[in-house]
Amino acid sequence: ILHPLGKDALGRGEFAHYMLKEMYEQPEIVLKEGSRHLDIPEELTHALHITLIGCGSAFYAAWGGKYYLEHLAHRKATLELASEFHYRNPIVQEGVTIAVSQSGETADTLKAIQYMEQKGQYTIGMVNVPYSSIARQVNYEILTNAGPEIGVASTKAFTAQLLCLLKISISLMKDSARKEKILNGLKQLPLDMQKIFFKVSQLQDIAQHLVHAKGIIFLGRGISYPVALEGALKMSELSYIFGQGFAAGELKHGPLALIDATTPVIVLAPMDQFFEKTVSNIYEVCAREGKVFIVTDEAGASQLAGVPVQDIFVYPSPATWELHPFLSALSLQLIAYYTALHKGCSIDQPRNLAKSVTVE
Ligand code: G6P
Repeated sequence: ILHPLGKDALGRGEFAHYMLKEMYEQPEIVLKEGSRHLDIPEELTHALHITLIGCGSAFYAAWGGKYYLEHLAHRKATLELASEFHYRNPIVQEGVTIAVSQSGETADTLKAIQYMEQKGQYTIGMVNVPYSSIARQVNYEILTNAGPEIGVASTKAFTAQLLCLLKISISLMKDSARKEKILNGLKQLPLDMQKIFFKVSQLQDIAQHLVHAKGIIFLGRGISYPVALEGALKMSELSYIFGQGFAAGELKHGPLALIDATTPVIVLAPMDQFFEKTVSNIYEVCAREGKVFIVTDEAGASQLAGVPVQDIFVYPSPATWELHPFLSALSLQLIAYYTALHKGCSIDQPRNLAKSVTVE
């Protein structure tokens, strides 16, 4: 794997934007961090209930972490949006809280973690910036090691957070054969991520189709649901096109009313346990003249021939379902990036946004 930047970790080198450089750094982060041993505290090893807290992209990474912790580690995992959490006066029982934050400075997340400490929870900060406020506040710090992230819209930090949460879940799981399978799959993942960059012109074409949209719908099921939400957030932040993610199963409970020939629908349809159901959602959208763009893996694509969609972006099939988000999130990041580029938006510093929000 080639480091996109050479030696200069803080510059953007030959890349047009920090965001582009940071997306290209992701395979290397997965390569390095995927095999690095992760120490976790005793309190987490024995915790029956884990609360995950964050804002923005960190919240969506935490959402993916909830799926991992439930499926792999069989732990009760509760997800909390930090900006809502402490205002609710929530009932807190025994357990461990993991605050996920790139900057470690987000005021809402810091407040939430302080609240949890007062209630007697053991707190863990999963941060990208060492010695940050959250890192100093918590009982235990886990570094995501994505390196400095300059682009306001989070990309590599999101991936590193998801990877860290997957590694925690793997270290808590009992099924050793499954563990082995995921760990082996992780070794192949960086190369598979890099293969997405070889097909970037197809993502540019998809982006070209999205430029004039007023709104874009993102659909996903299972762990692809938080990825769809993250994809919608990236699109909104970067291109100023309103992006909304929905759980594909919710389509019939409202979002179907939005479908027409002018609202593109991006569907995450990996070959996983939900594939058949996701395909039926695709047909529901097509039947209403929706313009569908599918993001799937090779195994999924082989079953989708003849489906009347606008385009299908295909990434390599990972070894297990847990690894799809790393490939699908990268694909959606690139689609959002090129849509914003076509529109001439300020990519590294989108209007009205700050990299870290230190006010509540
Ligand atoms: C801001 C940034 C987002 C980020 C969120 C949480 O809103 O613009 O990109 O996801 O804060 O930041 P954190 O540093 O806590 O991960």
